[in-house]
Amino acid sequence: MSKNFYITTPIYYPSAKPHMGHAYSSIVSDFFARFKRNDGYSVQFLTGTDEHGLKIQRSAEKNNMKPKDFCDQISKTFENLSKTLNLSNTDFIRTTEQRHIKSVQHLWKILEDQNQIYMSKYEGWYSVSDEAFYQPDEIESKENKHFVISSGSPVEWVEEESFFFKLSEWEKPLLKFYDENPKFILPEGRRNEVISFVKNGLKDLSVSRKTFSWGIKIPSNNDHIIYVWLDALTNYLSALNYPNTKDELYKNFWPADVHIIGKDILRFHAIYWPAFLMAAKLPLPKRVYGHGWILSGDEKMSKSKGNILDPLEIIDVYGLDTLRYYLLKEVSFGNDGNISQEKLESCINSDLANNYGNLCQRVLAFCEKNCGSKIPTSDFINDDLEILKNFENLEYLRDLIDNQNINDYMKFIIDMLFSSNKYFNDQEPWKKKNDKNRLNTIVYTALDLIRKISILLNPVIPDTTLKVLKIFDINDDKLKFEDIDNHKFLESGKNIGKLNILFKKIEND
Ligand code: MSP
Repeated sequence: MSKNFYITTPIYYPSAKPHMGHAYSSIVSDFFARFKRNDGYSVQFLTGTDEHGLKIQRSAEKNNMKPKDFCDQISKTFENLSKTLNLSNTDFIRTTEQRHIKSVQHLWKILEDQNQIYMSKYEGWYSVSDEAFYQPDEIESKENKHFVISSGSPVEWVEEESFFFKLSEWEKPLLKFYDENPKFILPEGRRNEVISFVKNGLKDLSVSRKTFSWGIKIPSNNDHIIYVWLDALTNYLSALNYPNTKDELYKNFWPADVHIIGKDILRFHAIYWPAFLMAAKLPLPKRVYGHGWILSGDEKMSKSKGNILDPLEIIDVYGLDTLRYYLLKEVSFGNDGNISQEKLESCINSDLANNYGNLCQRVLAFCEKNCGSKIPTSDFINDDLEILKNFENLEYLRDLIDNQNINDYMKFIIDMLFSSNKYFNDQEPWKKKNDKNRLNTIVYTALDLIRKISILLNPVIPDTTLKVLKIFDINDDKLKFEDIDNHKFLESGKNIGKLNILFKKIEND
């Protein structure tokens, strides 16, 4: 079995500064990347910015800047955000880079060679904010203005000469592919939406624009630029040094294991992308997961609605790990979720401070007083083995991750935190001062539970868990998921490091 894993975030439009929705796609992807790395995989984790198209050209014009200068500036804020979010991405791609331009032009030529492209004229609706063409039945009109029913985005009428991709030829092969790969699109509800859309019939897709110039030129016709979605989707290949299919990166990591995206861009990833790849005779990604939106109130965040939650502000007040924990635990993955101050604070107080923080603090304080801050000896009895054995089913946890079941994974951790605190209470080591062997074993078991839970929590709150694991001398390189079923991992007699308070409770008057 290959121990390589390739995961991607969507590449973000640098049309305005990043918001919580972007942070969400990235944090979720980082969670999976970190879990897989801890589980011994070699991981490629890609993020970046999607810099061509009319949307960006117009944003640059509004700011009186040249598109490339404008992108340089805003792309930097996305790159900085990746660092602020502590993403473990292995690459950051910009679609204005030469490696990407080369890759897109190559893919275009292959599509031409495969007789998949023809010249015609496009007449229809186009939404600049979605960068998408829409059919008349997807549009509604209000006061002489026209909008996309599903996204509410304004559309404009476009009539221009355009190259088309023979998408209609791929209707049946796509349906067959979905049928044979029932988990290609997750969650299931979204899969059904895509299938019914395709069953309604696919029209050929306009894949070039002529009336503006901010994009990648078509090699055989410099009057046209390539449609921004064909350009953008190809980033997933460009970062693996496509078109050099003999390159190690490409050989080891394509096809991607999972593209993490928001539900609004499912059509592009689950229909157009596999169709382009099939037409180019390239392997298809193994999964596309369409997550829900982070809502501000009841609405999707967007610049035009002016309801943007700034991740940097939240991180400033509550800390990064709190935000990461909140998004992974409180949002039911696949569905929409929202952020409220009240829920954030309750996450800190009840889960992070009272549950995880408290377990670490009380066990360590007890160990310091009664075991001289050394790992004690252990002589397990049934009570200990019963709680430890919860960590023996590694396949169960791996399976949750491979099905992107973040919520059950988090539930497992929270249950284990409760059980561990309860174990320590029920065992009452403070009453065992006359039975040193039993006292030692309880402390050993509790320390080991802290170690196991910290390993599981590491992809969620990397900074905090590394502080905890450091007391056992486990750093990033030594941290292995598979060690959680080893109940004798900690070496008796070894010193335990010091730990400061992990999360301060928030007291409101
Ligand atoms: N550039 C395209 C993606 C190209 S991928 C080949 C794009 N960019 S975007 O910046 O508009 O959005 C990027 C991602 O952020 C999308 O997955 C989108 O769903 C996600 N989010 C944007 N707003 C969001 C929320 N309010 N909540 C959660 N995610 C949302 O689309």
